[in-house]
Amino acid sequence: MQEQIKNTNTLEELQALYTATFGKNGTMTAKLKNMKNLDNDARAELNRENTVLRELFKSRQAEIENSVMMAALASQRMDATLAPLPENRGTLHPLTQALSDVSVILESFGYEMWTGPEVEDDWHNFTALNTPEYHPARDMQDTFFLENGNVMRTQTSAIQIRSMDARGAPIKMFGIGATYRKEMDATHSPMFHQIEGLYIDTNITMSDLIADVHEFLKRFFNMDNIELRVRPSYFPFTEPSIEIDMKWRGNKWMEIMGAGMVHPNVLRNCNIDPEQYQGFAFGFGWDRLAMLKYGLNDIRQFYDGDIRWLRATGF
Ligand code: DAH
Repeated sequence: MQEQIKNTNTLEELQALYTATFGKNGTMTAKLKNMKNLDNDARAELNRENTVLRELFKSRQAEIENSVMMAALASQRMDATLAPLPENRGTLHPLTQALSDVSVILESFGYEMWTGPEVEDDWHNFTALNTPEYHPARDMQDTFFLENGNVMRTQTSAIQIRSMDARGAPIKMFGIGATYRKEMDATHSPMFHQIEGLYIDTNITMSDLIADVHEFLKRFFNMDNIELRVRPSYFPFTEPSIEIDMKWRGNKWMEIMGAGMVHPNVLRNCNIDPEQYQGFAFGFGWDRLAMLKYGLNDIRQFYDGDIRWLRATGF
């Protein structure tokens, strides 16, 4: 009997043997029922056998349970030295990153960030910017007109007007936002973004403009030796007007932004006295600047929803 118990390998086998021994019809149960017919010695012997067998069953059960657990542990071994699974981490879209860089720099120069509506009225987008109806300069921008006479903002210059209307002079601000024009190719998207700077005070000159733009570009591109070229140009809201080019990678001149001294008519339209105040404005494509910084040649890549833009590289 003791050998039989030791030879069981599973809990089921052990249970079957236990039932055959101590169950209702078990061999030991029958013997114990007969106890009263035995003499003292035989009774003592039977009691001893009963105790021994019960102990044996218990210890065999513990042994089998233990080996079942050890087998389970062995099959589920964990290697604590394995590298963790890579997790998906996000990062800022390059346009968002570029905007963040631009804002940090301009704010450090004392410019305050402004936004404005993307659906603009004619006054803020054109007329107040010295571009009244039938002014030929309206053709410089292929405008989306809405049925009620409003337009999809073609330029963040509209935000200058809103900031001067609200604040008056002096003012030092930059406006950011989406702008819209009917054009689409590798360097133009119907929706793009502009950033516009404006600084109006009592003693502001073109040199202040060029110094700020120069310092801004140095910091944005993280380059000490940025070379600029200033060309005369035309914008209705500035007089004189200039375009600023930057020497890119040591040889090619790239047009970076339009700028100029704010036209007296624009100041008057915002109830600012041009005899007392003057200042400069500049405007540039935020997407274009980001394309240069990140080495892209097709603006549409920013807008094609490629999830890789948002994935952090490396681990
Ligand atoms: N609004 C102009 C454009 O969209 C850019 C610009 C030029 C803005 C000269 C200015 C400026 O503030 O002074 O082409």
